[in-house]
Amino acid sequence: MRFIGNKEKLLERIHQAVLSTSVKDGVFCDFFSGTSNVGRFFKEKGFKIISSDLLYFSYVLQKAYISNNTEPKFTKLLKNIKTPKNNLFSSPFESIKNYLNNLKGVNGFIYKNYTEEGTKNQQYKRKYFIAENAKRIDAIRIKIEEWKEKNLINENEYFILLASLIESAPFYANISGVYAAFLKQYDPRALKRFEMKSIKFYSGKKSHAVYNKDSMDLLNNLDADILYIDPPYNNRQYAPNYHLLETIAKYDNPPIKGATGLRDYKNQKSDFCNKETALTALDKIAKTAKYRYLILSYNSEGIMPEKDIMSVLKKYGEVTLQNINYPRFKSNNNGDSRHKKTIQEQLYILRS
Ligand SMILES: C[S@@+](CC[C@H](N)C(=O)[O-])C[C@H]1O[C@@H](n2cnc3c(N)ncnc32)[C@H](O)[C@@H]1O
Repeated sequence: MRFIGNKEKLLERIHQAVLSTSVKDGVFCDFFSGTSNVGRFFKEKGFKIISSDLLYFSYVLQKAYISNNTEPKFTKLLKNIKTPKNNLFSSPFESIKNYLNNLKGVNGFIYKNYTEEGTKNQQYKRKYFIAENAKRIDAIRIKIEEWKEKNLINENEYFILLASLIESAPFYANISGVYAAFLKQYDPRALKRFEMKSIKFYSGKKSHAVYNKDSMDLLNNLDADILYIDPPYNNRQYAPNYHLLETIAKYDNPPIKGATGLRDYKNQKSDFCNKETALTALDKIAKTAKYRYLILSYNSEGIMPEKDIMSVLKKYGEVTLQNINYPRFKSNNNGDSRHKKTIQEQLYILRS
């Protein structure tokens, strides 16, 4: 998934940092989980994962990829719905996905509030999805909830279906990366017929714990071998940038406002998005949590300066810093030309 700060391309480097600690198994905490990519990677390496994020849609991904350890069978559901007699599909999940992808569209919350057609009589006209795709998303989302309410799917199956919907929506969204704005003209991507896609299943035997909580509230009872933290590194809060994924995940008909149809996010603000509170929050984590190693992912352009991070972490043990040159493309202010820029991803390793 395209997500600011997604560590997918840095997983090997994070792995090397973990290997350098000589911790090979035990409890790995991923407390700013986002896409859950880091947790997934270390789940596959055999760790027990504890993860959390302020965003509910991240929690959905964590439930599907981290908590769930098996391929879903949808046994009860398959007995209750009509699927094609000749079993063309390779798995129960594929059968259900096909069923959902063939539902008739519904004029639901996403259609009514985030499409040009649905908002045509409203003060703000929004073009996040084309009407047909929004109706498909609504139909699928409503059906998943109906199945859950009728007890036709279990908790894992519920979150697997939600995660598939969440992973698929961005492929059809008429945005340039985040949901803080929509494009004036339709991007070709937004015009394709919406199809819910498959997700990967991460099998395993360990039980994992995932939360939709402020990580700052989870520190007291923690006992981690590796406490990996990847907080935001600038002033931009995540919730407003991903508000539409949050609403598809929750589907709670929230009050929304303004040109972008933003939902309220006052309970999802991060201390790490503010220069004044970020260092205090980092200090609180390093001081309160129990861990053998704390690994902080940060960025050379972040709002906490390197020397301040160092002086906080050094209060609690020996610290090493690894810098990783990382090319990235940055739009200029007009967004019409692009230039390449190198930034440094940083890994601070604190041995307690
Ligand atoms: C840099 S991103 C993490 C990216 C993630 N490692 C990945 O690979 O996708 C930061 C994440 O921290 C979350 N976040 C910020 N403050 C938080 C807090 N106090 N507690 C829990 N999550 C928080 C944000 O919602 C966002 O998903």
